[in-house]
Amino acid sequence: MRLDQFVSQAMGISRSHAQSLIRQGALTLHEQLLKNPSQHIKPHDPIKLEQTLLTLPQPLYLMLNKPAGVVSATTDPHQRTVLDLIQHPHKHTLHVVGRLDKDTTGLLLLSSDGDWSHRIASPRKQIGKTYLVTLAAACNDEALEQLRQGIQLHGEKHPTSPAQVILVSEQQLRLTIYEGMYHQVKRMLAAVGNQVITLHREQIGGLGLDNELAVGEWRVLSDEERDEF
Ligand code: URA
Repeated sequence: MRLDQFVSQAMGISRSHAQSLIRQGALTLHEQLLKNPSQHIKPHDPIKLEQTLLTLPQPLYLMLNKPAGVVSATTDPHQRTVLDLIQHPHKHTLHVVGRLDKDTTGLLLLSSDGDWSHRIASPRKQIGKTYLVTLAAACNDEALEQLRQGIQLHGEKHPTSPAQVILVSEQQLRLTIYEGMYHQVKRMLAAVGNQVITLHREQIGGLGLDNELAVGEWRVLSDEERDEF
C-alpha cells in the first residue's frame, strides 16, 4: 500500500495531512527517512513517527439501522450519506457492504475489510438478504409462484435465484433473495405487476438487525456476528 494511505489510516488523519507529515521528514523505516508519500510499503513494515511505531487499526465491522432519505455512500456532494450518521475515529476507512436505495430502511453493514465485504456481496456465496416488503396491491398466488421460481429481469444475464416468500398480510411479504442486483426487489415486484411502497431489510445471512438500535443508530458487530461470514 502507499505510504500516505498507511499513515492516514494508522493515525486517523486525512491523506493530505499524512502527505505533509511525510514531506516534513517525520517518518522513518529502519532509521531511514521516508520522504515520498507515494512510496509503496508493506502494512507490517515498522514505520515510526518520530519514536512511535505506527500500526494500522483493526478492521471495523458495523451495522446501521438505516433511515430513509440518506444515500448508501461514503461521500456525496449534495446528499446526506450513511457515513454522516457514524461517529468513529476511523470511520473514513469504512465502505458500504451491499447498498440500499435512498428510500430503503433497515440493516446496512459497513466495514473496512474488503475480503469480508466481498464474501457477503458475492452471488456465488448465495447469502440470503431478507426484506419486509409493503406493496401497492395484494399479491396473488401466481405472483408468489413467479417470485419463488425466479424471474428474468430486463437487462440481466440470469434469472433471479428462487426467492423465499412468506405472505405476512395481503399487501406485505417477507422476501429473501440471494443476489444484489440493482433495485432487485422493486424490479422483481414490478415484473409481477405490483409496486413496492416500502422496503425494509431485516436480515443478511444469519445476522439480523438489532431491534435495540433506533432508526439512524449503529453499533460495532460482535466477533460472533463478524464470523457469520
Ligand atoms: N432491492 C431494491 O429494490 N432496493 C433496495 O434498496 C434493496 C433491494
